[in-house]
Amino acid sequence: MKIPPVKGTRDFYPPDMVRRNWLTDGWKKISLRNGFEEYDGPIFEYLKMFQVKSGDEIAEQLFSLTDRGGRELAIRPEITPTLARMVNQQINSLPKPIKWFSVPRLCRAERPQKGRLREFFQWNVDIIGSDDLLADAEVIFCAIDYLQDIGLTKNNIVVKISSRKMLAAVLQTIGVEKNELDPLYALLDKQSKLPKDTFEKLLAEKVADKSQYKKILELMTVKSIEQIKTIAAQNETAKESVNELNSLFELLNVMGVADFCSFDISIIRGLAYYTGTVFEIYDRASELRAIGGGGRYDNLLKDFGGPAISAVGMGMGDCVLAILLEEKGILPEQLPLAKSDYFIAYADQKYLQKAVEITAKLRLAGFITNFSYKFSNVSKQLKQASNQNAAKCVIVGDEFENNELVVKDMSTGRQELTNFDKFISDIKTKSK
Ligand code: HAM
Repeated sequence: MKIPPVKGTRDFYPPDMVRRNWLTDGWKKISLRNGFEEYDGPIFEYLKMFQVKSGDEIAEQLFSLTDRGGRELAIRPEITPTLARMVNQQINSLPKPIKWFSVPRLCRAERPQKGRLREFFQWNVDIIGSDDLLADAEVIFCAIDYLQDIGLTKNNIVVKISSRKMLAAVLQTIGVEKNELDPLYALLDKQSKLPKDTFEKLLAEKVADKSQYKKILELMTVKSIEQIKTIAAQNETAKESVNELNSLFELLNVMGVADFCSFDISIIRGLAYYTGTVFEIYDRASELRAIGGGGRYDNLLKDFGGPAISAVGMGMGDCVLAILLEEKGILPEQLPLAKSDYFIAYADQKYLQKAVEITAKLRLAGFITNFSYKFSNVSKQLKQASNQNAAKCVIVGDEFENNELVVKDMSTGRQELTNFDKFISDIKTKSK
């Protein structure tokens, strides 16, 4: 019986693992150099954890199950609720601001498409316990730091930034009620993904008042913070949030990454819990789905039973990133080649045991060492050694009758005879 892999999942063969590890190791390296500490949580949580504050889109994409005790659980579609729960549990003992990162494996029952799968890896960085815009800027900087580190430039990627606080204030001046904001956000977030007339039809269904409808459409075409300034002039909160956006761009300028960033009113975010800055990272050509996204979520910890404490963070998936890197030809050059330290060849079947003994000793001393189970002539074994990128090849041959081995440096091709006992004792001193 042949069972295929489940739709929207990936098998990671060894070359795929090299690629995946390269991506995730990069995420970890950049997180650490930006001052974040690593955390992780369980792969499943109580179902309600993701139904309460993440919004309908995520709730509809949950892989849920009932365990034998009748508990309703769900595989995590994101890690932010887990982060909020974990921080709440130790809120009093954790020094603030909390700067944590994680690289969870997540599952969403989405329709699989280019850049979107049902199982993926997502880099998360979050800063909890600071309402300073510096935290928003640091999160955005950290994402750009990574993207630059792997070779992407301002010509390849853009961070589109807006503010839900600003949008909420402006929408309220237009006459949208507070309780109408969330469903409106959900629709406005889909604007770029929907055909123009479909979007306008859905908006008209949601906003009955004709003049309000027109003003919202106009608002969504705004191109600069300056334009918002004029619209926001009568509303204090709107003015304040416009100033905050300006300050955020100034900080990004100080950090040297302003060229990667632009204001974009269409950035709303699909998740319901964002309250302030919101941003999404895209390829410049806007051909792919978002590489990452995040923002400020000042109520989530409180909503999960903790104190009112502000937070900001972002998530970046591995799927779109991999497509972009492939398109730009970046991945193949950077992938570390699988390497080994030694290959132990034997010139006759009778030396196999010796080869096994040397292999074991080298491995115990910390060296990556391989040998062939099946005997073949030495030139074939040397070929195997070079296929495995072995730095050195030890040949156990007739010289062994005089207690000697041939050691060949694979890069220079130089060979030398070495006394077996000396070789073994040297292993210990050289041990890794
Ligand atoms: P999100 O926008 O849902 O945010 O996901 C962030 C990124 O994860 C996306 O831009 C995309 O790269 C990747 N991603 C999401 N869904 C899929 C999928 N089905 N297949 C492949 N990649 C996917 C969040 O998850 C927030 N929790 C991020 C956050 C952290 N906000 C604050 N802290």
